[in-house]
Amino acid sequence: METGQIRYNKLFINNEFVEAASKQQFPVFNPSTGLKIADVAEADEVDVDVAVAAAKAAFSRGSPWRKMDASARGKLLNKLADLMERDIKNLAYLETLNNGKTYKDSMADVQASADIFRYYAGFCDKIHGDTIPIDGSAISFTTKEPIGVVAQIIPWNYPIAMLTWKWGPALCTGCTVVLKPAEQTPLTALEMAWLTKEAGFPDGVVNVIPGYGPTAGAALCLHDDVRKVAFTGSTEIGHKILEYSARSNLKKVSLELGGKSPLVVFDDADLDEAVEVAFNAIFANHGQNCCAGSRTFVQSGIYERFVRKASERAGQIKVGDPFDPNVTQGPQIDEPSLRKILRLVDSGKKEGAKLEVGGVRVGEEGYFVAPTVFSEVTDGMRIAKEEIFGPVQSILKFNTLEEVIERANGTTYGLAAGVITKNVDNALAFARAVEAGSVWVNCYDYITPQTPFGGFKKSGFGKDLGSESLNDYLVTKTVTIKLPS
Ligand code: NAI
Ligand code: MG
Repeated sequence: METGQIRYNKLFINNEFVEAASKQQFPVFNPSTGLKIADVAEADEVDVDVAVAAAKAAFSRGSPWRKMDASARGKLLNKLADLMERDIKNLAYLETLNNGKTYKDSMADVQASADIFRYYAGFCDKIHGDTIPIDGSAISFTTKEPIGVVAQIIPWNYPIAMLTWKWGPALCTGCTVVLKPAEQTPLTALEMAWLTKEAGFPDGVVNVIPGYGPTAGAALCLHDDVRKVAFTGSTEIGHKILEYSARSNLKKVSLELGGKSPLVVFDDADLDEAVEVAFNAIFANHGQNCCAGSRTFVQSGIYERFVRKASERAGQIKVGDPFDPNVTQGPQIDEPSLRKILRLVDSGKKEGAKLEVGGVRVGEEGYFVAPTVFSEVTDGMRIAKEEIFGPVQSILKFNTLEEVIERANGTTYGLAAGVITKNVDNALAFARAVEAGSVWVNCYDYITPQTPFGGFKKSGFGKDLGSESLNDYLVTKTVTIKLPS
């Protein structure tokens, strides 16, 4: 593997790799083996100050970044996408090594991420305000301006993709960025930082500071020179991010949090197709997916047959080394995650759900979990209420449309939902009634650069992707000019 100039024991600030002020480092592991891959520089409050100062200088009036034509920002984003495609194997290798997702999935994630930069590259010179015919003898126009220094805090389940979802709109609009990757998966973020320098982004526009949440993450969110925080992660920490904003400068916040998303299968569905959609909805990325279809509601007429086929399908998953092309499920991210999944599986058994397949750890090295299917799940069970974030399918039975709408919405979350049916009336009725930010009909997890993504209720607010995500990085200025009378 060629890692070129990357220094994992340094932070990336102002287009250079620099030591953490404390010289502290933290270990990063391969979840397939539990063995250490690298020691990584650990940022704390002091480094946060330095990184935010660099991002602030890069955003200052008259800086190269502020003077740059919007179309030139687009060229830089396209160049960054080119470099990702050039280095796709290196990035995918590191992603799989550090995160445990299959190499095939990592390749797909890097390509999809490069495509997101291309989408935003085209948007840079198409952001504009309005001319407004106001009352009285005056005219008004609005401009859309970048909000300033943004802090971005991302999780470990899609390290490169989450970074791209955040950098795309931030760099498109002309903001400057300080990103804190998850402590489990900082390696590809440092590689990506280096590529922004090679692409030609000016000093200080992109800064990457690995570190822990309660130290580096909290200091970033509390910083008075940060104008916005974009966060993806748990609902628990989402609450804290809002608190940090309230305690400091009321910075703008967007939150993409957890979910317990329903996927509803009606009797009239093609059974094999429905089993396959539901399978991918929950087992993709080993279940470590914020929008995972983690409550499979199946109508009573096909329930037994569906459970049988779904259990067979889950049993076909080959668990093991994510670099092996025949393997379709690698390890979970870490020991706490493994323990949480097994605890919830236990609770399912104790609360009376029927374990059809799986439910155990695989091997003693690394953090592998056997693909698990529960039937006879009811709404009150923990496995129907809590985010498991693992390869565990919970199958619930329903009878009527009205009933399933009520039950689908009976959660504090509202990130995504799916419905599988040939009846367009049922599909539309469900899509209109369900409280979720993304609704997929006869498909699931269909996410593109063009479609806004983000939740309702405790799944957070603000959108990633699409043109809508730009709003979170922009402020509107209204200029009113009195006309001569
Ligand atoms: P987490 O929410 O603690 O971590 C996500 C990011 O937030 C990481 O970069 C972390 O360092 C940072 N962070 C943690 N505490 C912070 C603080 N006080 N201030 C600022 N930043 C902070 O999620 P964790 O612990 O990795 O996973 C726990 C559970 O959360 C998972 O089992 C899953 O249920 C859920 N989760 C949901 C994700 C999603 O995509 N919506 C992603 C990751 C986790
Ligand atoms: Mg946490």
